[in-house]
Amino acid sequence: MFFSRLRKDIAAAQRNDPAARNKFEIWLTYSGVHALSWHRFANRLYRMHLKLLARMASQFAKFLTGIEIHPAAKIAPGVFIDHGMGVVIGETAEVEEGVVIYQGVTLGGTGKERGKRHPTIKKNVTVSSGAKVLGGFTVGEGARIGAGAVVLKEVPPYATVVGVPGRVVRINGEKTQDLIPEKDDPVMKEISLLRERIFELEERLDKFASWEETHAAPAAQQPAIQQNDTPAENAEQKGENHENL
Ligand SMILES: CC(C)(COP(=O)(O)OP(=O)(O)OC[C@H]1O[C@@H](n2cnc3c(N)ncnc32)[C@H](O)[C@@H]1OP(=O)(O)O)[C@@H](O)C(=O)NCCC(=O)NCCS
Repeated sequence: MFFSRLRKDIAAAQRNDPAARNKFEIWLTYSGVHALSWHRFANRLYRMHLKLLARMASQFAKFLTGIEIHPAAKIAPGVFIDHGMGVVIGETAEVEEGVVIYQGVTLGGTGKERGKRHPTIKKNVTVSSGAKVLGGFTVGEGARIGAGAVVLKEVPPYATVVGVPGRVVRINGEKTQDLIPEKDDPVMKEISLLRERIFELEERLDKFASWEETHAAPAAQQPAIQQNDTPAENAEQKGENHENL
């Protein structure tokens, strides 16, 4: 049982990593493969109700690999965690076969939910580096989550999700309208507010320009201040003006 699962993990690494040379090297050096083996051990302890020991095993694996997997998480054989450093997989997360997880991925909760609060990742999903998938929803089979995305809601199968918050930009490779309405996207909200403000300022500028046109014309018709011929006369006139003040 243990060895058949290990074989699947190693095969997944070989399939997904062009740099992988042979099975022995993968078994010896791939921290993702090590983390999954440790997780199976920790998960067995957890199911035997040796929860403290299970947590200790999972923390030891984290110390060795930089990958933290809660012992209760359900991870199928044949998952590939590439590089691994900084990966966090929460207690109620489920990860199916063929999933690829890159470094810095979090399969976590939003902190607001109880019970099933971590995502279910269906078969053959790619979760790119730094992506955060937060909440007890499902990421559909074959979906691709872009690097750095923050996914907060269900993802349809074969969708590509990118950005913060995550937006569906492709389904089956075909471009799609953003499935998250503008009003739910804080960046779009901010842009809308800026557009409104610019419109308001333009209106005020127009009003000011037309006011200037109407008032500047009569002022131009007023006689210009008579200039004296020499600087000395000018100074004299200024002096007189001061005396008159
Ligand atoms: C999302 C990803 C998996 C590609 O999926 P895909 O279905 O082939 O999507 P595409 O490359 O066709 O990109 C679709 C759109 O999303 C954009 N996009 C792709 N990745 C993005 C990302 N991480 N963040 C923001 N936008 C992204 C593309 O520019 C494209 O935009 P467009 O619609 O304006 O043309 C890939 O871009 C990605 O993020 N890979 C990272 C893999 C990784 O973590 N590698 C680390 C190895 S150590």
